[in-house]
Amino acid sequence: MTSRFGWFVLGCVVMAAAIAAGAWLFVANGGVAMETNAAPLPFEKTFAKMAIRAAVADSRKLPDPLPYNEQNMVAGATLFRSHCAGCHGLPGKPSRMGKAEFPNPPQLFTPSEMVTDDPEGVTFWKVTNGIRLSGMPSFGDVLTADQRWQLAMLLRHADKLTPAVSAALANENSGGSSSASANGSGKCSCMDSMMKNSPGMKSMMPSH
Ligand code: HEC
Repeated sequence: MTSRFGWFVLGCVVMAAAIAAGAWLFVANGGVAMETNAAPLPFEKTFAKMAIRAAVADSRKLPDPLPYNEQNMVAGATLFRSHCAGCHGLPGKPSRMGKAEFPNPPQLFTPSEMVTDDPEGVTFWKVTNGIRLSGMPSFGDVLTADQRWQLAMLLRHADKLTPAVSAALANENSGGSSSASANGSGKCSCMDSMMKNSPGMKSMMPSH
C-alpha cells in the first residue's frame, strides 16, 4: 500500500514538473504574444474581467462625498478633457490613440461603452489605482480625492450632460491646452499629440 501511495505521489510530482516545464518552454518559445496589436490570449479577457471585478468589490458601496450638481460636473468635465480624453475620447469624438492600445480604452462618452451603470465608488477606485497590465494610469498621486470623485460623478452621468458640462468638455481653452483638437481625431495619433491634447498627462512625466 505504502509503495503504491509512493508511486502515486511520485507520479503527481513528475506530472507537476512536466506541466511547469511545458509552460516554461511555451513562454520561452514565444507562445505568449507580447505585441500590443496581437489577438487576446485564450481566456485573457475573462480572467482580466474576473480579477478587476474582485479587486473593486469593496469600493462598490463607497459613496461619492460630493453633492451631485453642475459645478462638480463641470469641474469633472474640465479634468476629463485634460487628463483622460487622449485615451477615452470626447462626446462624438472617439480617441484614435485608444484604438491603438490593448486593451482598448473604452470610449466613455460613446453610449455602448459608458460606465453609467458602475457605482461612483468603482470608477473612483479605477481612477485612483489604475488598472494593471493595461494603459489605464493610476491618478492617486496626480489628482486630489475631490477631483477623482468629480470625474467619477461625471462618468456616472455621462448620458445626462447639461449644456454647461458639454461646453466644458468641448472647450478648447479649458484644461490648459488651447490649440489641441481634443483627442487625436486629427491626422496624427502619436504620443506627442496625446500629450498636447492631455496637458494633465504631462504632469505625470518626469520633468527635464
Ligand atoms: C494612456 C491612456 C489612458 C488614460 C490617459 C486614461 N485611461 Fe482610463 N483606461 C485606459 C485603458 C486602456 C482602460 C481599459 C482597461 C481594461 O480594459 O482593463 C481604461 C479603463 C478606464 C475605466 C474603466 C472602464 C470600464 O469599462 O470599466 C475608467 C472608469 C477609466 N479608465 C477612467 C479614466 C479617467 C477618469 C481618466 C482620466 C483621469 C483616464 N481613465 C485616463 C487608458 C487610459
